[in-house]
Amino acid sequence: MLDIGCGTGRASEALVERGSRVWGVEPEREMAALASERVSTVKVAPAERLPFKDGWFERALMWLVVHLVDRPRAFGEAARVLRPDGRLAIGTFHPLHFERYWLKEFFPSLEAIDKARFPAPEVLDSELRAGGFARVELHRLTQTASVDRQTALERVRGRFISPLQLLDEAELEAGLARMMAELPERNEYALEWLVAIAYK
Ligand SMILES: C[S@@+](CC[C@H](N)C(=O)[O-])C[C@H]1O[C@@H](n2cnc3c(N)ncnc32)[C@H](O)[C@@H]1O
Repeated sequence: MLDIGCGTGRASEALVERGSRVWGVEPEREMAALASERVSTVKVAPAERLPFKDGWFERALMWLVVHLVDRPRAFGEAARVLRPDGRLAIGTFHPLHFERYWLKEFFPSLEAIDKARFPAPEVLDSELRAGGFARVELHRLTQTASVDRQTALERVRGRFISPLQLLDEAELEAGLARMMAELPERNEYALEWLVAIAYK
């Protein structure tokens, strides 16, 4: 299978452990180098120009990638490199995620920033069909997670949570001050995933 936008190979590694033969493709050279320590074959290229022959893969994956790519081109490319009975699995955030996301309380602009970046389910569905997939299944999955106070503060200060990079400085400072005052030692929160399975 092909992990498109594989980053450091986190998902690829999990798939290798479950018995898949995984190839990765990633445009950032440094990330690709880290991924190649986890899976055998990683190519440096974007989702919009996959360096593979037609019909080469049984399965493809795009995990937390569809908000970053030119989706019509990337979906066309994913369909091209998949066999006639191939499938593409997509993991991304459901719009509900941004409405419920715990950091929204401290940074109110995050919801609008992310809703503008991430495709809604019906958009994903029509783009996948236009890209060459005959059938699309959409699922919503809820996952609970937790983070300790120190880690949360470090992630926010370093803007390691990507929409924070688009937030203005004043809102970041104000939100951080409130977090320092109000954050408990451990915070439980929910992630609302949108999973799409697209069949050629
Ligand atoms: C949030 S990370 C997810 C990485 C990995 N899929 C995971 O779940 O760990 C997004 C990844 O998409 C990559 N990316 C950005 N633009 C891309 C493009 N045009 N084509 C493919 N990957 C892209 C980034 O370099 C980054 O590695």
